[in-house]
Amino acid sequence: MISQRIKRMTPSATSTLNGMVSEMKARGEHVISFNVGEPDFDTPAAVREALKEATDTGKTRYVAVGGITPLREAIAAKLKKDNGLNYTAEQICVSTGGKQAVFNAVMTICDPGDEVIVVAPCWVSYVEMIKLAEAVPIVVESAEDYHLSINNIRAAITNRTKAIIINTPNNPTGAVYNEEELKALAELAKEHEMYILSDEIYEKLIYGDKKHVSIASISQDAYDRTITLNGFAKAYCMTGWRLGYAAGPADIIKGMISFQGHSTSNSTTMVQWAGIAALEKCDTEVEEMRQAFEKRRDYMKQRLDAVTGIKAGMPDGAFYFMPDVSCWFDKTYTDGDENVKIGDAQGFSQYLLREAGVAVVPGDAFEAPNTVRFAYPVSVETIKEGMDKIEAALAKLK
Ligand SMILES: Cc1ncc(COP(=O)(O)O)c(C=O)c1O
Repeated sequence: MISQRIKRMTPSATSTLNGMVSEMKARGEHVISFNVGEPDFDTPAAVREALKEATDTGKTRYVAVGGITPLREAIAAKLKKDNGLNYTAEQICVSTGGKQAVFNAVMTICDPGDEVIVVAPCWVSYVEMIKLAEAVPIVVESAEDYHLSINNIRAAITNRTKAIIINTPNNPTGAVYNEEELKALAELAKEHEMYILSDEIYEKLIYGDKKHVSIASISQDAYDRTITLNGFAKAYCMTGWRLGYAAGPADIIKGMISFQGHSTSNSTTMVQWAGIAALEKCDTEVEEMRQAFEKRRDYMKQRLDAVTGIKAGMPDGAFYFMPDVSCWFDKTYTDGDENVKIGDAQGFSQYLLREAGVAVVPGDAFEAPNTVRFAYPVSVETIKEGMDKIEAALAKLK
């Protein structure tokens, strides 16, 4: 018998869709993937070279669980330069991906029954991680424009609230929280003595005149109660390399290292050496990629706006749109002799896949059932092809 803990996990709402995509691809069908959250650029050459150099020079052994000192120092320097944050190397834990950094943090601060607030729409794993820690996820709606609703957050706080998880720039909405809302949240956190887990993995992907603000930089109190979480996957096109980190209060980081020490130990040694090259040598590549994403975002927005009923705000960061598509739920199409109703976001996604050969993710996966997520880490040509097909498919609905 598998454990209650695992039984309590909700199977990923994306799995049905992913299964269909894989089957279609296996049959040789052409599928346009607006469902995948990973940059389509190569990992920068300097990172690949650093990996080779580290491997060739024998940097292939076990190292300190929390990471090699030169990488922790490089992360500390980055946090100072980019985010105005002062952390010592001991306040940093290097992990196997941003995902592990978030999981370590949740496991380290939560006792069974503690409540952790997450702001919906939210990244798929937060809720499950909280449940795995035997804590209770409290999902609150964001404001209409996908920014923080301080009122909703305040209303969700109880005497069991332990922490809130925020993510800016946001997956799946692309929202970038501004200084005012982060200040308001920091005040609320101080008042109710909550920890703040701030997932900043998309910080390099910000467009227009918006800028990233780390909530830990708002005040000394915010710094003392925040665990800043980040990773190399999105900024440096290193999704498969599995490298991330957390920075925060020394006692919490010590706890996270202890937990990691009994689960995965150090993240891959030579990948850590390559991570230093990412932080120190890849500003040009990051900026080129950011500019390419901005063009893609602008084009996709133009195309989404042209589809009646898709209400897509302009995301300021990451590489996602999260429009409300509920006005399509009453529409129908014919399948043989049968009249099929779209019904919900799952039905909408399945229809686009089947009719247009375009994969998008239904919003239920992100606690936002009236929406679907369009990811645009693909070329402008692919966006054009996908949107042409979506328009044609939606025009067939009755
Ligand atoms: C919001 C957010 N946080 C964390 C992660 C984890 O990234 P990784 O474990 O690949 O570094 C992701 C990946 O999709 C994400 O979207």
